[in-house]
Amino acid sequence: MNICDLHTHVLPGVDDGAATMEYALQMLRNGAASDVSVLAVTPHWGGGYGMPRDLQTRFEQLKAAAKDIPVRLVLGAEARADENLLGQLAQGSIPTINGSRYLLTEFAPDAKKEDFLSMLQSILDLGYVPLVAHPERYEAVCRAPQIVTDWLDMGCHLQLTGGSILGDYGQTVRRTAACLLKNDLVACIASDAHSTGHRSNFLMGVYDHISVQYSKQYAKCLLWETPMGICANDRL
Ligand SMILES: [Fe+2]
Repeated sequence: MNICDLHTHVLPGVDDGAATMEYALQMLRNGAASDVSVLAVTPHWGGGYGMPRDLQTRFEQLKAAAKDIPVRLVLGAEARADENLLGQLAQGSIPTINGSRYLLTEFAPDAKKEDFLSMLQSILDLGYVPLVAHPERYEAVCRAPQIVTDWLDMGCHLQLTGGSILGDYGQTVRRTAACLLKNDLVACIASDAHSTGHRSNFLMGVYDHISVQYSKQYAKCLLWETPMGICANDRL
């Protein structure tokens, strides 16, 4: 199988993910061992982490160091939807996934229903398409998963975290993830990997779980075809 993982904190020394280059390379080797052949490096942008400096240079350094690991790397960022986001987006200073229209967008865990709607619309108005990171982990979505249908109607898409599906974030999050999957509301599944241990980028187990619970084709769609379409800037 092939897996395309669009959400990882592999870039070393910029956020709460990999701290060193050696650690980042181990995460990439783990990804390769889990059939990840395309991986987006998506450091936190804003939301207490600041704006990573020299991102392109750091990305090129990681690519050079990882040249013997069979994983194609693309650049992105996990942008925190807060008061600073829109100004920076308007300036074009936040990396989208592989330079596409798709912006991996994260909200505060306790964001309100209205906050989601107004921020997502503002991002769309700037010409970007939000790929909402881990909706199943937001309190408002756990309370009422159907609120995401408004986001989809607006033209946004959802990225589920693999660990949520397997219960790594508790039963409420697991149930919410299952509800979104069952109702075919999800564009892709990614690891949100921060380390080689807990929150790692082993996605094979998720692929198998989706294959058994739903179908092989659904797993392929969520973990390969649609994320690859996002990287290619295809319209979903
Ligand atoms: Fe993340």
